[in-house]
Amino acid sequence: MANTILIGAQWGDEGKGKIIDVLTGNADIVVRSQGGNNAGHTVIHRDRKYILHLIPSGILRRGKVCVIGNGVVVDPVALVVEIEGLRKLGIAIGRNLMLSDCAHLVLPYHRALDEQRELRKGHARIGTTKRGIGPAYGDKAARTGLRVSDLMQPTLFSKKLQAKIRENNSILQALGARPINYREVNEQYLAAGRKLAPFVANTVVYLHRALQQGKEVLFEGAQGTFLDIDHGTYPYVTSSNTTAGGACTGSGVPPHRMDRVLGVMKAYTTRVGEGALPTEDEGLADTLHKMGREFGATTGRARRCGWFDAVATRYATMINGIDELAITNLDGLDHVDPIRICIGYRLNGKRLKVPPCDAAQLANCEPIYEELPGWKESTHTAKKPSQLPSKARKYAKYISELTGAKLSMISVGPSRGQTLFL
Ligand code: IMP
Repeated sequence: MANTILIGAQWGDEGKGKIIDVLTGNADIVVRSQGGNNAGHTVIHRDRKYILHLIPSGILRRGKVCVIGNGVVVDPVALVVEIEGLRKLGIAIGRNLMLSDCAHLVLPYHRALDEQRELRKGHARIGTTKRGIGPAYGDKAARTGLRVSDLMQPTLFSKKLQAKIRENNSILQALGARPINYREVNEQYLAAGRKLAPFVANTVVYLHRALQQGKEVLFEGAQGTFLDIDHGTYPYVTSSNTTAGGACTGSGVPPHRMDRVLGVMKAYTTRVGEGALPTEDEGLADTLHKMGREFGATTGRARRCGWFDAVATRYATMINGIDELAITNLDGLDHVDPIRICIGYRLNGKRLKVPPCDAAQLANCEPIYEELPGWKESTHTAKKPSQLPSKARKYAKYISELTGAKLSMISVGPSRGQTLFL
């Protein structure tokens, strides 16, 4: 396997966790380069369900090194909980996990601000995961953030933390929210810092040396293309670069060392949180929710659902330079008939081939659909593409053609075995 960037081609929750887990079999190192514990990657391994938030999915396989890169925002307390939770399930975590000393920290005032900002926005809220991600990246951009390297120096950390809490408490108090207790946070974070110390390293140097030795790296994207801070449906986005470029800045590995970009997309579309979803369809959402599907791994929220949107995925192919596609959740459409595919948008009487930049304009786009007959039978047991119903095969082929990249994988269920390679 070449050095691969794996990217969500829609609004997140494309089933990346499972595809990453499958690809990890051939990688030496798995890197997270953006986002924080807003992500929730679900992996089913030996009939057990694991939900990973900060730790790369490679941790479930022996002999793989997992790196939390400089571009990730890390809540150290949540990371310790995740490590201890995995250890209880029998997953060994030691030298197979590395944490960048340059990664920024998520602190309790980030979470409090995230919540307050959402409350104040009312109907215009983003629908964040309330994990403090936006305010943490805000501090990073404002050059006032605390980093893992600070946490590794207790005296310095406490001093910086005290000043930050003082500043943020004035803001929180002005907003009518409860102030943060410095002593409690300081103790809690320093304790987490002590537990994380063995994992902290200059991960940029580690990755460059590993690449020189010919090791193969998988960059696991979190969230999806349309949640990207630059290219997504702003302001209804997350605060990091979820697109392919984020893998370089968030890990310190330069673009010319990347060999391929694999885009993961669902056979339909989902979104959690607010913002436009042009192909949203309540009937399809009902069907999927009744099947017990499409509930968020991080917040448990029911995801909004819609038809496959080829306008969006074609754009995602362009931004990310997607070479290959993995289509997931094809089985979600097993009993849906007919199946609609969005092949264009109409806005104010004009046909659009790309999503407009403006959120209000996107919300006013009317999808132009094509209809395909459903296959009305289960795809769960297929072991190779030829065992899929021919209508299901045609559907997968057609949506990848519309997207404009080569189809290389189809997933028809949550387990590793339910992955068909083309
Ligand atoms: P934040 O990242 O918590 O600030 O949330 C911003 C937007 O991104 C909201 O619409 C969230 O629902 C969405 N979001 C954040 N993380 C994920 C994810 O892992 N999957 C899907 N949506 C996400």
